[in-house]
Amino acid sequence: MAKLKSVYFCQSCGNQSPKWIGKCPVCGEWNTYVEEVVDKTEEKLKEKKGYSVKRNEEAKPIPIKEVHELETRRIDTHDTELNRVLGGGIVLGSLILIGGEPGIGKSTLMLQVALKLKGIKILYVTGEESDRQIKLRADRIGIKNENCYILTETNTQAIFKQAEELAPDIIIIDSIQTLHTVYVESPPGSVSQVRECTAELQRYSKETSIPIFLIGHITKDGMIAGPKVLEHIVDTVLQFEGDRNYTYRILRTIKNRFGSTSEIGIYEMIGDGLRPVINPSEILLTQRDDDLSGIAIASMMEGMRPFLIETQALVTPAFYGTPQRSSTGFDARRLNMLLAVLEKRAGFRFGTKDAFLNIAGGLRVEDPAIDLAVMAALASSYNDIFVPGKIAFAAEVGLSGEVRAVSKIDQRVSEADKLGFEKIYISKFNQKFDAKKFNIEVVNISRVQQLMEELFG
Ligand code: TYD
Ligand code: MG
Repeated sequence: MAKLKSVYFCQSCGNQSPKWIGKCPVCGEWNTYVEEVVDKTEEKLKEKKGYSVKRNEEAKPIPIKEVHELETRRIDTHDTELNRVLGGGIVLGSLILIGGEPGIGKSTLMLQVALKLKGIKILYVTGEESDRQIKLRADRIGIKNENCYILTETNTQAIFKQAEELAPDIIIIDSIQTLHTVYVESPPGSVSQVRECTAELQRYSKETSIPIFLIGHITKDGMIAGPKVLEHIVDTVLQFEGDRNYTYRILRTIKNRFGSTSEIGIYEMIGDGLRPVINPSEILLTQRDDDLSGIAIASMMEGMRPFLIETQALVTPAFYGTPQRSSTGFDARRLNMLLAVLEKRAGFRFGTKDAFLNIAGGLRVEDPAIDLAVMAALASSYNDIFVPGKIAFAAEVGLSGEVRAVSKIDQRVSEADKLGFEKIYISKFNQKFDAKKFNIEVVNISRVQQLMEELFG
């Protein structure tokens, strides 16, 4: 007879406790403990079988240089962006988690990859949608692939059974929150279920060398059980993010045992699926009229990729007592700081003005190198004088109005140069930088006042 045991799990970090507690001692979150029932006999069984620690009596230490190098074979996904974030393709036997908010396009991305991979067998397991819904989506994407199989199943053991018969080359699970295993009693989506199912999938992929993609939902406040708990079990964690009201999506590597974590992939959600964006700068800059005030172009880095984005500012007289400050895609506190610097160091008067800032394309930028462009945009709107279209900026601004050096300046300048910009303003403290190899004119400045004089006289 199965012996049932009830355990309390923190839904935020997965910590376990025999009784309910209000505040999690591990992650510090309040009110996150939920009761879950675990089958004790199965746990014992697992311990006996040695699921967690595999003891091999024969094992002896060997010098590291004698360990045979594992040949990491990779499957090309035929998707430049996904290949890039995975570090060059899918590694055999790896477990890859794709996290993201509902509706961002995770299912679309995975189905599209499955349909594009001709010549190998793919099993798409869905617990969220019916096979007909998947078919509708496949019709929308418009690629036909006879080797893509759909399975509507949520029981892990049943999935493994089907996989054994079909012998697919890749398995996609949509989503981990819908799976359940017979070994744990609690409902699908709970911490213990999600963790156990992932551990089973992990063992399965290692034993069979079949790579498995796991889709996992995270809500805005990151609450739903799962992704956080799973990060250490899986080999690779990718995060799919973007603003649902815009078409751009960013696929970011959070963890990767087989590649770099500073890679990003950019997609555009269009009528027939997700289109990889090879050159992001071009799209973000197209809808531009040179004669508008309040616009400045920044050369920024996302991961290892440089691209140019448009910062837009609007400064207008305030009609209410307290002037409004609002920013989209840029830290609001940083905007306030830059306004204060302009006020104190360059003689602007923002006290009676509303100031709005927007990063074009719905992107969120954390790179401090866009400071100078933000300031130029604000000043341009304030003065109502446009910044000529062929100028870019790449520098951070400090509290005393000093223009500070930023990392990877070569790539930033080179990107602006490639896109036909004529001039780029950077910090004079960016040493060891050879401007001669570029066609673009590189202007070194050290203070914000200097920039204001150059641009607006
Ligand atoms: P979906 O992949 O279902 O998101 P998730 O699995 O992350 O919850 O896709 C969500 C949105 O994508 C949906 O609102 C419709 C849109 N979409 C397109 O714009 N074009 C397309 O070709 C497809 C398939 C979806
Ligand atoms: Mg989905």
